[in-house]
Amino acid sequence: MQTVLIVAASENDVVGCDNTMPWHIPEDLKFFKQQTIGHPILMGRKTLDSLGKPLPGRVNVVLTRDVNFEREGILTASSVDEALKLAEQEANKLGVKKCFVIGGAEIYRLFASEVSKIILTRIHKEYDGDTFFKLEEADWRHTKTIKDVPACGDTPGFTIMEFEPVHVDRTQESSSQSDESYGLLQYA
Ligand SMILES: NC(=O)c1ccc[n+]([C@@H]2O[C@H](COP(=O)([O-])OP(=O)(O)OC[C@H]3O[C@@H](n4cnc5c(N)ncnc54)[C@H](OP(=O)(O)O)[C@@H]3O)[C@@H](O)[C@H]2O)c1
Repeated sequence: MQTVLIVAASENDVVGCDNTMPWHIPEDLKFFKQQTIGHPILMGRKTLDSLGKPLPGRVNVVLTRDVNFEREGILTASSVDEALKLAEQEANKLGVKKCFVIGGAEIYRLFASEVSKIILTRIHKEYDGDTFFKLEEADWRHTKTIKDVPACGDTPGFTIMEFEPVHVDRTQESSSQSDESYGLLQYA
């Protein structure tokens, strides 16, 4: 199963503010839905809170440390391994080969070393925020531009791009380098 990280970030790397998204771009939401529909999606408990309910047409896996957490339509996981195992089982049932890590910032960081593709919507505007995602361009290679949409009225322009890891010859790595630092993403 391929694990894909999907994120929208402003020019100054903001992804959220006060547990919500600082922008509303219907075309990007439509793209997000097209990509993720029919697949397992992995998210943090705070992102579920910000959505208010599970996203329909997808298997919603929520990461939480709260062992008593229960919500209708949600599968819970308390670790990366458990979440990926659940996602794989569910992907097999659905007959698909991908799952999506949909945020927020803590969960992007947690899954950084598990991800083999990033789909980034870069919103061409700066926003105030309190959660961030920074793509380390030395570690991720831009492989495709999917869409480039100019600003229109109050809606900012945005570019949707794919990135794949810059492969490192792991036999050359020092033994002190942890898996966590492979394909490194840095978060503010
Ligand atoms: N722009 C985008 O593409 C995008 C996408 C998604 C979300 N967002 C935004 O991101 C913000 C939320 O992000 P966030 O970083 O604050 O929260 P988050 O990543 O959505 O969720 C954090 C929660 O995940 C759980 N968690 C974290 N590490 C864990 C671990 N190792 N094991 C088990 N559970 C773990 C904890 O839940 P418990 O506290 O329950 O234990 C933690 O409080 C919101 O503003 C949202 O709107 C933006």
